[in-house]
Amino acid sequence: MTSTVVVGGFFGDEGKGKIISYLAIKDNPKIVVRGGAGPNAGHTIRDGDKVYKVRMLPSGFLNKETKVMIGPGVVINPEVLKKEIQDFNVSGRSFIDKNCGIIENSHLTRDSKGELKEKIGSTGSGTGPANSDRAMRILKLAKDVDSLSSLITDVPFEINSALSANENLLIEGTQGTFLSLWHGTYPFVTSKDVTASGICADIGLGPTKVDEVIVVFKSYVTRVGTGPLENELSVEEAEKKGWSEFGTVTGRQRRAADFDFDLARRAIMLNGATQVSITKLDVIFSECTGKTSFDELSEDAKAFIKNIEKELNTPVTIIGTGPAVNDVIDRRT
Ligand code: IMP
Ligand code: MG
Repeated sequence: MTSTVVVGGFFGDEGKGKIISYLAIKDNPKIVVRGGAGPNAGHTIRDGDKVYKVRMLPSGFLNKETKVMIGPGVVINPEVLKKEIQDFNVSGRSFIDKNCGIIENSHLTRDSKGELKEKIGSTGSGTGPANSDRAMRILKLAKDVDSLSSLITDVPFEINSALSANENLLIEGTQGTFLSLWHGTYPFVTSKDVTASGICADIGLGPTKVDEVIVVFKSYVTRVGTGPLENELSVEEAEKKGWSEFGTVTGRQRRAADFDFDLARRAIMLNGATQVSITKLDVIFSECTGKTSFDELSEDAKAFIKNIEKELNTPVTIIGTGPAVNDVIDRRT
């Protein structure tokens, strides 16, 4: 059995969704389980000509043999969840914990104006206000919502049982290390800890049960919303490099900067990384688009990866070379 935690190393939007989809198909885990904040997350997954924009479901759902689960630490928007289960055809194998918190209209209203929206640049998804109510012990939980009853299971029990039965488990984090409420650029952060330890607490997996921690970095840094970004490029510079991106949840233009080794080293430390994944190598080195073996990369691209391994003292095992699920170089042995 192997339990693998996948988390973002910068400010979210590192391309975790695509890496998790790949691992869900390649490693065939019994369960893909999601921790993290809530529907403030957005993952874009491409399967052939199909593009999925996911906010609630774990990104591993493309593997039809896999159960997808959401841990009790995550707050849920029932409408968004039910729509994704239906639209992406995942009914019968999607589950949530009875203790998942519930986002209601009042949370959306509180998140759509005032400090959170204007000062922090929140996603307006209600996630922050719901977590605030949870800390106040007044948030409604999934077990109190009739229309969710068919989705409820004991997520910590299910995932720990799968490991005991020697099955693979894939653990999906959301957001990124420097959006962590504890370790990020406070107050410009999300409403939870989103490092590997926090993600495991969200799903009820103890620290001795984790085998691998893969920290995902994009080949450059982006940040959506406000807060510090070292060596930020102007919009024109970012567009020239092809780094201009737009948020999955909010549609806002993402700010961009070069790969930041200081941040990356700290992310390796905070998450206890055993492996690194680098995404969007093709955006920096277009000649690498769609490559699936390291030997096929250009000398410049190889040097870029080797330098990251040296600076971070951690193996780069999974490299994204294009938007499709299989545009991946997998160097795991
Ligand atoms: P909130 O999590 O909606 O309260 O937003 C707080 C900050 O975290 C804002 O700067 C958001 O843009 C950012 N944020 C939250 N979730 C994500 C994500 O999944 N990707 C990128 N940024 C995020
Ligand atoms: Mg995203």
